[in-house]
Amino acid sequence: MKVANLVKKSSEKLKIGIIGYGRMGSSLIDGAIRSGSISPDLVLIYDTDAKRSELAKEKSLKTASSIEEIASCDVVILAVKPKDMPQLLENLGRVMKASPNFKPLILSIAAGVRLSTLRSALGGYSRIVRAMPNIAASVNESTSVFVPSNKITEEDLVIVKSILESVGLAFMVRDESLLDVVTGIVGSGPAYFFLLMKIMEEVGIKYGLSRDLIRQMVAQTCKGSGKMALLSKDSFEQLINAVASPGGTTEEALKIMNSKGFTEIVSQAISAAIERSKRMAPSAPTPPPHT
Ligand SMILES: NC(=O)c1ccc[n+]([C@@H]2O[C@H](COP(=O)([O-])OP(=O)(O)OC[C@H]3O[C@@H](n4cnc5c(N)ncnc54)[C@H](OP(=O)(O)O)[C@@H]3O)[C@@H](O)[C@H]2O)c1
Repeated sequence: MKVANLVKKSSEKLKIGIIGYGRMGSSLIDGAIRSGSISPDLVLIYDTDAKRSELAKEKSLKTASSIEEIASCDVVILAVKPKDMPQLLENLGRVMKASPNFKPLILSIAAGVRLSTLRSALGGYSRIVRAMPNIAASVNESTSVFVPSNKITEEDLVIVKSILESVGLAFMVRDESLLDVVTGIVGSGPAYFFLLMKIMEEVGIKYGLSRDLIRQMVAQTCKGSGKMALLSKDSFEQLINAVASPGGTTEEALKIMNSKGFTEIVSQAISAAIERSKRMAPSAPTPPPHT
């Protein structure tokens, strides 16, 4: 269902506020608008960086000059860096206290900031969902995973799903600790593939292919592999074997990768990202209870 089609009252459409229009916030909101799921005139952007607000205005999006204006929104997406979350939550908590009718659905995409931290910083408020999308939302190919707070209604889940599905695939999990795993694999994941593609590009150039040509070839190879993995029922081992015929070129490459510890390095690296996400949670201020 399109978010723009979800109504809060008989005829009013949902208004979506986003705090933080940086790399991820803009990818998410621009992607959702591009998909037609969110109507641009129902979006309000608040970013403390004037350049990011300017960018939003250039795209004909409405911007707020203070966080207080966000109180007009039905859904509020929190998309600032984890280190900036305590300050933002303090400000948002103040706005919510000052406007008792402001009871938005809050969708936080900040890595490592727990539901309990969000709840306690907002004085016990619990209409909150945490999500981990990735930067491929900018081309409507994100993988997003979300965890609802236990007070979330079915209608709120529909809203969250429709926002996240408008920029790619979205999956719900109930165990919040899994979001750290997702952060290390899915949130950071595009960078791992970009690194592999960069290495492939460099080798291609070294062997005489032009930068433009090899970039397209590498990107299409990555896209094709992803599509096969999505559509095929074969295991990754079977997919590898389908390419690596005995005595062939792929086998030669895999031999080097295995003997030099490629699997172990990548596995350790991703585990380090997951552990970083677990340690990331910033401490939040504890304001008086929100009524
Ligand atoms: N980047 C990714 O690939 C990715 C993937 C998944 C999830 N995430 C999550 O998405 C969140 C945003 O990441 P990002 O990479 O988009 O960061 P970013 O590019 O730094 O964007 C955040 C924006 O929010 C602004 N900001 C900071 N504090 C604010 C406040 N209190 N009120 C309003 N605006 C404020 C920042 O301004 P200043 O620059 O002036 O501080 C910046 O323009 C993070 O929590 C991250 O964990 C990111």
